[in-house]
Amino acid sequence: MEETRRPWWETGVIYQIYPRSFQDSNGDGVGDLSGIEARLDYVASLGVDAIWLSPIFPSPMADFGYDVADYCGVEPVFGDFAAFDELISAVHARGLKLLLDFVPNHTSDQHAWFAESRSSRSNPKRDWYIWRDPAPGGGVPNNWISDFGGSSWEWDEATGQYYLHAFLKEQPDLNWRNPEVREAMSNVLRFWLDRGVDGFRIDVLWHIVKHEALPDNPLNPAWTPLITERDRLLQVYSTDQPEAHSISAEMRALADSYGDRVLVGEIFLPNERHARWYGTPDRPQVHLPFNFQLVESPWDAAHLHGMIEAYEASLPAHGWPNWVIGSHDAPRIAARIGEAQARVAAMLLLTLRGTPTLYQGDEIGIGKVTIPPERMRDPQHFRQPALDIGRDRSRTPMPWDDSPNAGFSTNEPWLPLNDDWRSRNVAAQDADPASMLNFYRLLLGLRRSQAALSVGSFRLLDGGPDVLCYLREHQGEKLAIILNLSSEPRSCELEEGGAVDGVLASTLSARPFDGTLLPDEGLILRLEPEH
Ligand code: GLC
Repeated sequence: MEETRRPWWETGVIYQIYPRSFQDSNGDGVGDLSGIEARLDYVASLGVDAIWLSPIFPSPMADFGYDVADYCGVEPVFGDFAAFDELISAVHARGLKLLLDFVPNHTSDQHAWFAESRSSRSNPKRDWYIWRDPAPGGGVPNNWISDFGGSSWEWDEATGQYYLHAFLKEQPDLNWRNPEVREAMSNVLRFWLDRGVDGFRIDVLWHIVKHEALPDNPLNPAWTPLITERDRLLQVYSTDQPEAHSISAEMRALADSYGDRVLVGEIFLPNERHARWYGTPDRPQVHLPFNFQLVESPWDAAHLHGMIEAYEASLPAHGWPNWVIGSHDAPRIAARIGEAQARVAAMLLLTLRGTPTLYQGDEIGIGKVTIPPERMRDPQHFRQPALDIGRDRSRTPMPWDDSPNAGFSTNEPWLPLNDDWRSRNVAAQDADPASMLNFYRLLLGLRRSQAALSVGSFRLLDGGPDVLCYLREHQGEKLAIILNLSSEPRSCELEEGGAVDGVLASTLSARPFDGTLLPDEGLILRLEPEH
């Protein structure tokens, strides 16, 4: 059968775990690797295929692990190599895969490489980072703005030069034009692949190479003070450089030399430039350039229809699609569109063509969370407080039950829990057949049992006002997905689809299909095969 030849990452579903907030096993209020291991039966019970862990490496935590001080170690707060090795065997024993987070664009300023690099201008590792003299007449070398606000340049008094940082000043950018950096980072990938990991999510991949001459970025004519300072400029010379694509192809060749591994690239770009990160059939790049358009698109049927159509059309013939609806960086989907539509969103995510990535906590519908100012931790918030873009609200600990600290820890968690944790927790939802959790399980089960949902063809139909409608078809199996994106009743004709043979799932309670949709209702319908 065709399916058996497909790689697991095409038919599979990825589940993102934010290790600080999944399960604490030693009572320090921060999640850890042994905690994750203890909760693996839960992860397996969802029906997902792979786990991606946000960074677990030694880190001063200026950006909560995305500032890596040693790529080949385990952060003591999370455990040690013994805990990691146990975790990976336990993951594999359940037939799951494990992806780590590879952070190639920048290290921590506490990394030994940076300590050497900043020690003197003649240090052999000086060129491992991006150092420049002040501009003629003084001041920063160019106008680049950090993604977290402020200049991308930090002055180093001791050696009289600036270094570049696309994010915090505690996250100096590596110089990927230097072959020694490339070799050192390839060794990092080998180190973890040799330890058995099944692949990587690659952090800010499109950032890794900058234009050699470091010219000023052009102004963004659409900028307003209501959006981030970063967006004052178009990142024309600081991101998505042609040389980055050959590095991504090298990473792929390395991963492929280990067999069945996957590379997922974090890339925010318009479709046409995004699609280039697949590479070509004879020089492939990442398997899955992360597609964040469900996170970014306005939540209405017309926008979603247009967005899905344009994304599908942009894919190269060898490019497999993928969809993301939440992450440790994005606002919670249920906070953005409300719980009723979050069920519609779950149905959409798990019935589109392409690999879905779920983010921990979305499966129980965690929505708006209040973080008192004194408990906020995200550096992005502190750099631009007026914008209210802090990511802490999406990083709160998993509420497992209604015991003290929600079963997450024996101590006060590092971030507060969701306000409604006493009722919105895994145990409560496990026991409720109509819960978001059991709805996710139902959808994930269907995705597994109905090949049309994982590998079937995809065709958008005209669903009429507020209704998103599409067909999935595989070897005579034909499904229609119809989603009411509004909180009003709507009708749906399904003229093109064929006669309805049964309802496989509903975001509300199951009922026969009568050509209408209740408010916030989404349905998966089985259609009669055409003769
Ligand atoms: C990525 C990560 C984000 C981090 C940034 C810098 O976007 O997902 O959490 O702050 O890279 O590493």
